[in-house]
Amino acid sequence: MQKCILNNMLLEIFTEPNPILRKVSKQLTKEDIGSKKFKKFIKDLTETMYIRDGVGIAAPQVGESLMVCLIAKDFTPTKEKDLILINPVWEKKSILKTLDEEGCLSVPGVYGLVKRYKKIKIKALDEHGKEICFEAEDFPARVIQHEIDHLNGILFIDKAKKLRHAEKTL
Ligand code: CO
Repeated sequence: MQKCILNNMLLEIFTEPNPILRKVSKQLTKEDIGSKKFKKFIKDLTETMYIRDGVGIAAPQVGESLMVCLIAKDFTPTKEKDLILINPVWEKKSILKTLDEEGCLSVPGVYGLVKRYKKIKIKALDEHGKEICFEAEDFPARVIQHEIDHLNGILFIDKAKKLRHAEKTL
């Protein structure tokens, strides 16, 4: 196990206003998903998310314009394992939107209130290229909407009200 950890790599986080954050990402084929290179990328992306304390992360945030994002285990609907969403799409399952504060690794030190649908249904491919379909509610639904926005070149600051800049602690 330790060898795996040593082989992984902390990826650089690209921050606003880097133009890669504004591109619509490329869909992945089943062949892409099955490649060794992609499996390594997912490992590195997961490690980067945890080291940088993200609740989720999307490929464009590390400079890869690919339709894949991750949600950390504790913020998924089942809390069982990290969720890997490839070529994800979602639809609303509630009329209600909720307002809550968000931040983003790509917009460091900035927080703002964003309205998101309370309940959504997601369709995607998992890390094996298998189709998955599920519903998410409340905070997991919020994180998923935030991460899928990244794949479409959208940042939370585009939607947020009352942006605030956190005081520097270092
Ligand atoms: Co973000």
